[in-house]
Amino acid sequence: RKLSIIGAPMDLGQNRRGVDMGPSALRYAGVIERLERLEYDIEDLGDVHIPRPNRKEEQESHLRNLKEVAEGNKNLAEAVDQVVSSGRFPLIIGGDHSIAIGSLAGIAKHYDNLGIIWYDAHGDLNTGESSPSGNIHGMPLAVSLGIGHERLTSIHGYEPKIKPENIIIIGARSLDEGEKQLIKEKGIRVYTMHEIDRMGMPEVIKESVEYLKDRTDGVHLSLDLDGLDPNEAPGVGTPVMGGMSYRESHLAMEMFAEANFITSAEFVEVNPILDEKNKTATVAVGLMGSLFGENLK
Ligand code: ARG
Ligand code: MN
Ligand code: MN
Ligand code: MN
Repeated sequence: RKLSIIGAPMDLGQNRRGVDMGPSALRYAGVIERLERLEYDIEDLGDVHIPRPNRKEEQESHLRNLKEVAEGNKNLAEAVDQVVSSGRFPLIIGGDHSIAIGSLAGIAKHYDNLGIIWYDAHGDLNTGESSPSGNIHGMPLAVSLGIGHERLTSIHGYEPKIKPENIIIIGARSLDEGEKQLIKEKGIRVYTMHEIDRMGMPEVIKESVEYLKDRTDGVHLSLDLDGLDPNEAPGVGTPVMGGMSYRESHLAMEMFAEANFITSAEFVEVNPILDEKNKTATVAVGLMGSLFGENLK
C-alpha cells in the first residue's frame, strides 16, 4: 500500500491567519510515523507552493485573494494528479478548505464517477454571489460542481469535476440560504446533525457506503476538522457548536476502512494558533489512523 502526503499551507481562503501552519502541526503530531506503523509505504512530498498576497494590490473581486487561491490550487492539482497517476493514494493535508478545489481537480480527472464524502459543519456550497463572507473556503464544493468564478471552476483545464448525485455531506449544521437552495436544486444528499442524532452514526455511514459503493468508481473523503464538536477539535477558524463527537468520528473512519472504498483523502482547517497544545492536529492524525485501518487488525 503506497501513500503520498502532500501539504497545502493555504490560509487565503478565509481571514484567520495560522491555518497555513496546519501541515506542520499534523507532521508534528506524527502523521508519518502513525501511518508507517500500518505498513504503508509513505512518501512525504512536502508542501506545494502557495503564493503570498500582495497586500498593496487592490482586490480585483469580492472573492478574497482570488488570484492567489487560484494559483495555489493550480499547483496542488498538478501535484495530486501526479500522485494518482503513479498509482499512489494521495493524502492532502491543509490548509483551509479552499484546497479541496485543487485536490478534486487533480483527482476527479482519473474517475468517471468520483464519489465525495464531505465531512463538515458547513456545505461549502457558496458562490461569490451567495457567500456571506467572500471567503473561498466556503465555496469549494460549488466550484467543483462547476458553479462559481471561472478562475476557480476552470482549474486544471476541465469542468465540472464532480456530479451532485455523487456527493454526501455529513455533519452539516451551518448552511447559508443560497447553499440550502443549491442542495435542493441539485438533489445533494445531506446528513445534518439532526439526522445523525436520529439515525445514529452507524446507520448514517452504512447508508452512505451502500449509496456510493455501486454508483462510483472511487471516493474522496474531504474532512474538515470543524465537522467535529469544537470541544474536541478547538483549533479551527469557523467552529460551530453541536458537532460530531470524537468517538462518532472514529467510528465513521473505521467503517470507511472496513468498506475499503476511500481512494483519496484530505484533512483540512487545522489551525495550531487557535488550538490547545496541538489537540486538533492530534485528533486529526488519530482519525487518519482509523481511516487507514489501525483498528482492523
Ligand atoms: N458558510 C460560511 C461562508 O461561506 C462559512 C464557511 C466555512 N467553511 C469552512 N471550510 N470552514 O463564509
Ligand atoms: Mn499566513
Ligand atoms: Mn467547515
Ligand atoms: Mn469546510
